[in-house]
Amino acid sequence: MSSGHGFETRAIHSGQAPDPSHGSVVPPIHLTSTFAQTRFEADGPHTYSRVSNPTRNALEECLAALEGGTSCAAFASGMAASQAIFQTLSPGDGVVAGSDLYGGTYRLLEQVYKRWGLEVRYAADNSAEAYAAALASLARPRLVWLESPTNPLLFLTDIEAVCAVAKAKGCLVAVDNTFASPYLQRPLELGADLVMHSTTKYLGGHSDIVGGAVIARRPEDMELVRFQQKAAGAIPSPFEAWLLQRGVKTLAVRMERHCDNAEAFAEALRGMTGVAKVFYPGFADHPGHAIAARQMRRFGGMVAAELTGGVPAVRQLVENVKFFSYGESLGGVESLLSHPASMSHASLPREERLARGIGDGLVRFSVGIETVDDLIGDVRQALRS
Ligand SMILES: Cc1ncc(COP(=O)(O)O)c(C=O)c1O
Repeated sequence: MSSGHGFETRAIHSGQAPDPSHGSVVPPIHLTSTFAQTRFEADGPHTYSRVSNPTRNALEECLAALEGGTSCAAFASGMAASQAIFQTLSPGDGVVAGSDLYGGTYRLLEQVYKRWGLEVRYAADNSAEAYAAALASLARPRLVWLESPTNPLLFLTDIEAVCAVAKAKGCLVAVDNTFASPYLQRPLELGADLVMHSTTKYLGGHSDIVGGAVIARRPEDMELVRFQQKAAGAIPSPFEAWLLQRGVKTLAVRMERHCDNAEAFAEALRGMTGVAKVFYPGFADHPGHAIAARQMRRFGGMVAAELTGGVPAVRQLVENVKFFSYGESLGGVESLLSHPASMSHASLPREERLARGIGDGLVRFSVGIETVDDLIGDVRQALRS
């Protein structure tokens, strides 16, 4: 499938040719741990499913095509995908990460990789200058890690500008593209070297699998990541790879509806009593609006809001909503809400969390694809009750 084909065509056809043995339009799930070899001392295309499996490889081909990369390695979770990238570094190597990171990534860097000898710095804010300053403080800068939009405050980073700063230092840039999905943003086209996904989220889209992926622009940047996939084996099962592929086929239509709903929801939320501030990159007065408009197709399905009543107000909302499930995660067709302070960002010390702008009354909404008026009405009645 050529990169000249449209996004939706690639999502449906890349790696998905009908099965040659029976013509089934949907390729079968290769539920096997091993592969019978036909000749002594000669391996066929597959030997053992930790190393490669046709169902997983088909998914990897599709995800690489969607991000505009040359190759992809699928993992058992987003964190396993991130881990595989960090494992390509050596003790003494330096990493600069964004300041408003997914809590699990922060925890991995702070509690695992610092112990293993990585030098970790955080950019003071989302500007390219802040990344340059953090890079300058490292003896051996090797990797820049960023999210845009960020979790949970939806701040934007100019990916192209950070890539220029990182390149000047000879660093690779990895972008966690989970919040945007490749339908809305393709970091490799903006100069990034690696893209990481928690495929648990928009790519899967149905809250039924946990998975991750790394996609590389150049084959040589995938070599060590692929080695990690094979050596450590944090792979998705063939069934999960197949489910993920099924979800990916509708990514474009789902994302359009997520964006429509989030725009209307964010606007309505702004006018509700008890809501102090709404964070949505689609607002013209959002600090990252211009960057988002430049590097994203639309503004995404995530919205965050600070409630004036703090934790008691969050409790009231959580206990009274009907259509928003209260839970971790995002990006499914069903709406979810979470409380970053006690959930995704609970591993951040409180002062650190507050310094990053993640208040006790902050709520994060993953706006699903239900009828938007029902979602707006649901939150309005829950805030009033
Ligand atoms: C932005 C982001 N990156 C990475 C992850 C980790 O992915 P997983 O839960 O699939 O390991 C998450 C999970 O919420 C996330 O939101």
